[in-house]
Amino acid sequence: MRRAGSLAPMPLATLRQVLDEAARGGYGVGAFNVNNMEQLQGIVDAAVETNSPVIVQASRGAIAYAGPNYLRHLIIAASESAPRIPLVLHLDHGDKPETCLMAIELGFTSVMMDGSLLADGKTPSDYEYNVAVTREVVEAAHAKGVSVEGELGTLGGIEDGHGSGEVHLTDPDQAVEFVERTGIDALAVAIGTSHGAYKFTKPPDGEVLAMNLIEEIHQRLPETHLVMHGSSSVPKELVDEINRYGGEIAPTWGVPVEEIQLGIRHGVRKINVDTDARLAMTGAIRKVFAGDKGEFDPRKYLAPARDAMKAVYVERMTQFGQAGHAGDYEPLTLDEMRERY
Ligand code: G3H
Ligand code: 13P
Ligand code: ZN
Repeated sequence: MRRAGSLAPMPLATLRQVLDEAARGGYGVGAFNVNNMEQLQGIVDAAVETNSPVIVQASRGAIAYAGPNYLRHLIIAASESAPRIPLVLHLDHGDKPETCLMAIELGFTSVMMDGSLLADGKTPSDYEYNVAVTREVVEAAHAKGVSVEGELGTLGGIEDGHGSGEVHLTDPDQAVEFVERTGIDALAVAIGTSHGAYKFTKPPDGEVLAMNLIEEIHQRLPETHLVMHGSSSVPKELVDEINRYGGEIAPTWGVPVEEIQLGIRHGVRKINVDTDARLAMTGAIRKVFAGDKGEFDPRKYLAPARDAMKAVYVERMTQFGQAGHAGDYEPLTLDEMRERY
C-alpha cells in the first residue's frame, strides 16, 4: 500500500510496475498520447477523478511539436499536480535506439523500440533486425531501471491489404522467441488494427480483427504484458459532432470497447488511444466556432476541447478497469526498478 497522507510529488512510475500491478488486478491501462498542455490536463484530471494509474505517451512527432523541454516540464507539472497518481512517461514508436536513448536522457520512464519497421518508420524490417535493435534498447534501458515495449508484426488493416499476408500479423511462435531473446517488458501485437480514424469499413468481425491471436499469444506467454495499438473506438457520436459543425469525416469504424475488454481478459494490459481524443477535441472546437464566428479567445475553445477529451479519458479509464487503482501501490524509483529487473 502507498504511504498514507504523503503529499510530496511522486516519482514517475515505470511501465513495468504499472503493468505488473494491472496484471495482478486483472485490468488494462490506457496509454494516451500527449502533444500539448490541454491534452495532458485532460488525462491527469480524468486520472484524478477516477483514481487511476495512467500512461502518458509522446511520439517523436509530439516531441518535435511541443519541444523536449516543454514536454518534460509539462510532465513534471502533471506529477506535482497529481502526486497520488502513478504516472508513466512513455516514448511511443521509437524508430531507432538513438531516439530511445534520447528519451531516457529526457526522463522518460519507459520507451517503445518499434523495430517492426526500419528507421524510416515505414518499411517492414526483418525479424533479426527487430531482435537486435530491441535487445540493444533493453540493455541500455534496464541498466537505468527504464521499461521497454517492443513490437512484433506490423500494424495495418487486414481490410486494406496490409495484414492479409500472414507475415504482418504477430506469429505466436515467433512472439515466444522474441520475448525470450529481447527481454522486453511489454509486447505490442499486430492483430489487424491500424492507427487513425479509418480502421474498418464496417463493424469489425473475426475476419478483420484477430482477437483469437491475442488469446493464443497469451496462452503461450502468460507472463508477458500485451499491448494493443490502434485501439481507438472511433465513436459515431464524436464523428457526428465534427460533421454536424462543418467537418467531413467519412463513415468509419474503430475497435469496439467490448473487444478490448476481451483482450484485457487475455493479457492485454496497455491500450493505446490517441485518435478518440483528437476527434473529441476537434468536435468541441468546431462547435464553438460554428456557434460564434467572431470568437477569437483561444481559452473559449480550448477549455471545451479539454473537457471533451477528459470525458473520453474518463470513459476509457472506467471501461479498461484501471479506475480506482491509483492508490494500490507506490511508484518505485528507477534505482529500485533497476535492482528488481
Ligand atoms: O502512433 C500513432 C499515434 O497516434 C501518434 O501519432 O505520430 O502523429 O504523433 P503521431
Ligand atoms: P489510435 O489511432 O487508434 O488512437 O491508436 C493510437 C496508437 O496506437 C498510438 O501508438
Ligand atoms: Zn501505435
